Amino acid sequence: MARQSLQLELAERPKAGIVPGKTFRVRQVPAPTEADLKDGQLLLETLYVSYDPAMRGWLDDRRSYVPPVQIGEVMRALTIARVLASKSSKAGPGDIVTATLGIREVGIMPEDQVEPASALPLGKSGGKVTDLLGVFGLTGMTAYFGMTKIGEPKAGETVVVSAAAGATGSVAAQIAKIAGARVIGTAGSDEKCRWLTEELGLDVALNYKDPDFRRKFKEATPKFIDVFFDNVGGEQLDMALGRANAFSRFVMCGGISQYNAESKSGPTRNFSNIITQRIKMQGFIVFDFAKEYPAAMAQIGRWLGEGKLKRKETIIKGGVAASEEAFKQLFEGGNIGKLMVEVKNPEEVSRL
Ligand SMILES: NC(=O)c1ccc[n+]([C@@H]2O[C@H](COP(=O)([O-])OP(=O)(O)OC[C@H]3O[C@@H](n4cnc5c(N)ncnc54)[C@H](OP(=O)(O)O)[C@@H]3O)[C@@H](O)[C@H]2O)c1
Repeated sequence: MARQSLQLELAERPKAGIVPGKTFRVRQVPAPTEADLKDGQLLLETLYVSYDPAMRGWLDDRRSYVPPVQIGEVMRALTIARVLASKSSKAGPGDIVTATLGIREVGIMPEDQVEPASALPLGKSGGKVTDLLGVFGLTGMTAYFGMTKIGEPKAGETVVVSAAAGATGSVAAQIAKIAGARVIGTAGSDEKCRWLTEELGLDVALNYKDPDFRRKFKEATPKFIDVFFDNVGGEQLDMALGRANAFSRFVMCGGISQYNAESKSGPTRNFSNIITQRIKMQGFIVFDFAKEYPAAMAQIGRWLGEGKLKRKETIIKGGVAASEEAFKQLFEGGNIGKLMVEVKNPEEVSRL
């Protein structure tokens, strides 16, 4: 029988959070084959899918930095994939690549949207294949550029990172430590907080679900905050504004606490501190720095090799059908480090 391919399609736009069994449908379709390839295209099979909070935003029909996913379309997602067949000089059968293939088992991509793993500093740094979605992927790049280009922490300064045990936050926090700053991370469990202080070397980690979080946040920032790297928004952003130093930098990376909220809430109580403390608050999208990815990857590779940067990943098994579980974990904090779903173990043999 010809090979079949499972794919996750958008069925209905969610009004708030992703609704299991409603927002998406899993469908089996005949897999494309080598015969379907045109010049400059590659036939890919997915090994790992990246689950990113931004994917929730791609479901809303509104102006953003990328067009929304349309109803009936395969859900957009970054992947690590293996080349099954190729009509491109960029990569050949058996090669590992990254591509925005979407949540599907098999698909065709144009060569300009495929990045061969051999182009990345995996081997030199002791990196592994899944790092292509983690430290060498977009979350690693986001942490690097957000912290170094916007946050610009200096030795002795106080840096606070929200969602610090996540893929982006954990790398951003460590980059601030490398710069010599005093680093405080916030996260949603005591286990995550222990990882941040005991393994990553953060100075303080605070569980934002602790009833005393507000008091502890204040106590942990006696000299106020010089750099706030925000992944969460809402209440935590307001608290950070309340503790901001004069001329502090606020790196506006994400606001996950608001992504599923039907009516959004923003920082209100301490908003005027932006003026009184002359805060520089800058949003960014990692793609803004695409030309500089190779240099950032080389630096991250060196830090990994020197043991200055550590990373963790949470890999869910179960392929395309595990997507709803992955989204649930992402928004409920089930992951430590980079969250991904294994669609096919790279050790398994491929067949066309
Ligand atoms: N600007 C850019 O170009 C760019 C690129 C990539 C990512 N981002 C942003 O960076 C942030 C982190 O993304 P990531 O891919 O690294 O994900 P991640 O941090 O690995 O995973 C998301 C984490 O967010 C936390 N979270 C979920 N709901 C929350 C809530 N209501 N309040 C507080 N924390 C909550 C959870 O951890 P806890 O257990 O700690 O709650 C969860 O583990 C997101 O805001 C994302 O949109 C921005």
